[in-house]
Amino acid sequence: MKRIFLVGFMGAGKTTLGRALAKATGLSFIDLDIHIEDRFHKSVRQLFEELGESAFRELERQNLLEVAEFENIIISTGGGTPCFFDNMEQMNQLGKTVFLDVSHAVLFNRLSVAKFNRPLLVNKTDEELHTFIYESLSLRLPYYQKAHFIFCADALESITQLNDSVEEIRVLIQA
Ligand code: S3P
Repeated sequence: MKRIFLVGFMGAGKTTLGRALAKATGLSFIDLDIHIEDRFHKSVRQLFEELGESAFRELERQNLLEVAEFENIIISTGGGTPCFFDNMEQMNQLGKTVFLDVSHAVLFNRLSVAKFNRPLLVNKTDEELHTFIYESLSLRLPYYQKAHFIFCADALESITQLNDSVEEIRVLIQA
């Protein structure tokens, strides 16, 4: 039975790599945010606005534990998922975890054009985004670094880079 959790900051490529990895391995794929959105018929941004962050984190935790029972699956988590409750320890116990490590500069480039659906980023200026990435990454790294494997996901911009990354992660998680 295989169960793989992808963790990392917003913009790390968890969904893109998760989908591609599932296709390449024949495993199923679930994105925790999309699972939550489908279930509540609301976007994560709406849920954040209506419930507030701490109630969202409770709901995220419940849904994580639910999808973590599925078998032969790749699960892409939200950027904050490993950093609340004992979520990271749970994931480490229930499957293999891969931290998609991405440099500040690459995160900035990816996120500066993808702020709208991300409640923590919406309305941030470029300067505020830089500061946010710097500050929250340093708070979150200790959680992400508890993962079983670390993979540098800086290069995902072309199909070749994506396919190469998928192959490298396949080798990594079979170790
Ligand atoms: C969040 C990341 C988002 C989503 C929510 C909060 C975070 O997921 O769960 O907006 O705290 O980093 P992605 O990492 O998929 O953008």
